[in-house]
Amino acid sequence: MGRAAIGPGSQYYLERLTLNIFLFDLIQFNSIRLDPIAGSWQFNDMLACIILVSWLALLWLYFLWSRRRYYKAAWQLPGPVGWPFIGMGLQMMNPQTFLQYMDGLSHKYKAPFISWMGTNCFLYVNDPQTVEQIFNSTHCTNKGDFYRFMSSAIGDGLFTSSSPRWQKHRRLINPAFGRQILCNFLPIFNAEADVLLEKLDVEGVQRGKSLEIYEILKKIVLEAACQTTMGKRMNFQHDGSKAIFEAYSGITEVCVKRMLSPWLYPELIYRWSRLFDRQQKVVGVLFGFVEQLLQPAVSVVGVEDSDANKQLEEEQHQHQHQHQRQQQQQRRIKSKSIFIEQVREHVERGQQMSWQDVRDEANVIIAATFETTSTALYFTILCLAMHPEYQEKLHDELCAELPEHGDISIEQLERLSYTEMAINESMRLFAPVPMVLRRAGQDLELRRDDGVYLIPSGTQIGIDIYNMQRDVRVWGPLARTYNPEAHFGPDAPTRHAFAFVPFTKGLRMCIGYRYALLLMKLLLAKIFRCYRISTAARLEQLLVKGNISLKLKEYPLCRVERR
Ligand code: HEM
Ligand SMILES: *[C@@H]1O[C@H](CO)[C@@H](O)[C@H](O)[C@H]1NC(C)=O
Ligand SMILES: *[C@@H]1O[C@H](CO)[C@@H](O)[C@H](O)[C@H]1NC(C)=O
Ligand SMILES: *[C@@H]1O[C@H](CO)[C@@H](O)[C@H](O)[C@H]1NC(C)=O
Repeated sequence: MGRAAIGPGSQYYLERLTLNIFLFDLIQFNSIRLDPIAGSWQFNDMLACIILVSWLALLWLYFLWSRRRYYKAAWQLPGPVGWPFIGMGLQMMNPQTFLQYMDGLSHKYKAPFISWMGTNCFLYVNDPQTVEQIFNSTHCTNKGDFYRFMSSAIGDGLFTSSSPRWQKHRRLINPAFGRQILCNFLPIFNAEADVLLEKLDVEGVQRGKSLEIYEILKKIVLEAACQTTMGKRMNFQHDGSKAIFEAYSGITEVCVKRMLSPWLYPELIYRWSRLFDRQQKVVGVLFGFVEQLLQPAVSVVGVEDSDANKQLEEEQHQHQHQHQRQQQQQRRIKSKSIFIEQVREHVERGQQMSWQDVRDEANVIIAATFETTSTALYFTILCLAMHPEYQEKLHDELCAELPEHGDISIEQLERLSYTEMAINESMRLFAPVPMVLRRAGQDLELRRDDGVYLIPSGTQIGIDIYNMQRDVRVWGPLARTYNPEAHFGPDAPTRHAFAFVPFTKGLRMCIGYRYALLLMKLLLAKIFRCYRISTAARLEQLLVKGNISLKLKEYPLCRVERR
């Protein structure tokens, strides 16, 4: 962890300082030599100058020499050079245009290419062959340095942590997202879907308003996430959830801003900045929220609301009630397996995890669940709203496979192949996590058609999922259109296995991809079974910004009709 305090930032300072002293001395030295009235200078002064300059020059050369491996790699895979010391930092780090900018670069220089971010060597990758080698490599499981800002803000959870800690926690948390456990979540997913439908119906159909669906989806997904991972009902539909959403996007904003400001890299300086105050404020809100979630309570997974139970008690016959109680008991046993119960057990049983670890992991799990899933869901609905012809096909499938009303089971969901195509296609076009960063932990050999390239250990690797998944060279002429059949249909040409990686692949793959697909499928099925959604927006008009998770510059409104 010593490295955390002496990050790339301090290195940046050191280099900057070295150069400044070096240049300053050079100028001084020259002015001394050239000064015509400098009769009084002494030989000793000059000697001291020469020694100082040479010493600094040597230091500088040593610095360059120590980095020769990076320069050699950069020589082989040339990319934009950028400014001294800042590298491509300024241009790359503008989140408004970042993804479009990188796409432009990847056409100008042959990707993969090497560039500089601050003084870090940065490998940019956007082709499936290279992406495969990186995701498969056991030496690329640690995240890039940027994630350090995130872990210093919200704690070191699975998403950001590095090897020994990550491996241990991943092993402990993995079982909480297995297929068996997901089956227990279906009642919650179904119930949340009904809340969503009611909301769409009341606001969209009865009041006839055009809706900003993203906000509505975020609430539903966050509610489902809290119930299924923490076992807590939050009632976001009624209580204020705004502060929490703002805190989550505030964290992203703070981390991105810090990344844009190399002078804030060293912790010591950062702690005195205004950005740090803002970070503390949003972190305070988030920690309060997670603390609330962690309060011990009887799990709601599979357990009915107690008020509803009382009503049921009065209304229902005795034998039915008995049956229900049995069911409840069964469900309560099942709820032992949700995330929070599992980690609680690890804490209570021994030295595996501490409460601080649980807090960190809970924070990250909630953030990773709701941001990405609501984004993917939103884009799927938006794409279907923009393409009525595919929405009709989806509706046909739903009519054929599902009953008209009522809950949807996991077996029914597994038969919805067109729904899955529609989801995959929207995640292809709008990768919810547009870019991931890794760090080469050892020297890597990159095998390509035109030779083998050595990527030195310590290189930051940026994998541009967003641009790869809409690359014409990979996906053909329809790459930038929404067309589920052309890209995922049974007759679609086979693509490289790593051409579509919205959850990434390999050891560090998303832990919740099954969860996300299940929830999205269920919500989509329930929505499009009885409603038609349309929008005036067109695909070409959408402006995306890469902001850790994908965001739109403006969110178009949608109209909802009953079928
Ligand atoms: C459509 C929805 C989702 C997408 C597109 C998505 C995408 C991703 C991606 C790309 C990563 C790898 C990031 C990297 O390598 O830097 C990741 C990691 C992760 N995701 Fe997801 N995710 C989604 C939903 C979820 C859900 C529902 C959960 C929780 C139940 C979750 C929990 C995690 C965790 C804990 C990690 C870190 C795993 C590790 O590093 O070992 N995600 N996700
Ligand atoms: C990467 O891993 C996959 C699955 O484990 C395997 O099929 C593939 O051959 C591997 N590719 C490389 C380049 O090692
Ligand atoms: C990232 O997104 C959040 C929330 O949408 C926004 O408030 C923030 O300004 C964005 N950050 C940047 C640097 O654009
Ligand atoms: C959708 O993508 C996933 C990979 O994320 C794949 O396993 C699945 O087969 C795809 N579904 C369809 C219908 O193409």
